[in-house]
Amino acid sequence: METEKLKQLAAEQAVEEVESGMIVGLGTGSTIYYALLKLGEKVRSGLDIIGIPTSKQTEEIATQQGISLSTLGEHPVIDLTIDGADEVNPTLDLIKGAGGALVREKIIAHASKRLIIIIDEGKRVEQLGSNFPVPVEVVPFGWGSTQLALNEICRDSTLRSDFVSDNGNYILDCAFDGIPDPVTVESIINNIPGVVDNGLFINRTDQVIIGTASGIQILKRGE
Ligand code: A5P
Repeated sequence: METEKLKQLAAEQAVEEVESGMIVGLGTGSTIYYALLKLGEKVRSGLDIIGIPTSKQTEEIATQQGISLSTLGEHPVIDLTIDGADEVNPTLDLIKGAGGALVREKIIAHASKRLIIIIDEGKRVEQLGSNFPVPVEVVPFGWGSTQLALNEICRDSTLRSDFVSDNGNYILDCAFDGIPDPVTVESIINNIPGVVDNGLFINRTDQVIIGTASGIQILKRGE
């Protein structure tokens, strides 16, 4: 099955978890796109939810789909967030942020009672940092110095070209040859002045729904 079909399979399965009355965190990216389409369909048939988008891109798509939106200010506690990921390891830790929305995604994940991650099977890895760099959002002021500090931790880092985040910041993509201890790396990176946050999401995921060639696979935290 082609990758897009696998993403759609996972996304539509996740939407089954959404019930009327919920405040729903809406992730960013090409997988969540299919969830937004399905949610739109359900909203038009009477599903009553309020979505909290993780990016301007998602805000636009959700609005086109007729999904009512609000802000974290209005709804600081979210019932359920559905989001994508770039890598998922066996303990359901993640690398996120290829789409550049990691800061808002992490804030919304933290505010959520449940976080469901939707991926196609190509995103599973034994060790984080095997295929994708860790995106690090940095404030523009002094970003070159921030990069020098980051290069002490990762193999190398690249400024994402022609990109400014929804928060007005830059992203440095930090490549590793695998990350054996992502808990430590997440906090070391975030301790560097100028870093806003990074794309390691540790101990945050409740469930991962994977679209595979032979159907849906569901992984739950602690199982
Ligand atoms: C957005 O910043 C990212 O965290 C995405 O959620 C992640 O990159 C997955 O995106 P895709 O579903 O497009 O692969």
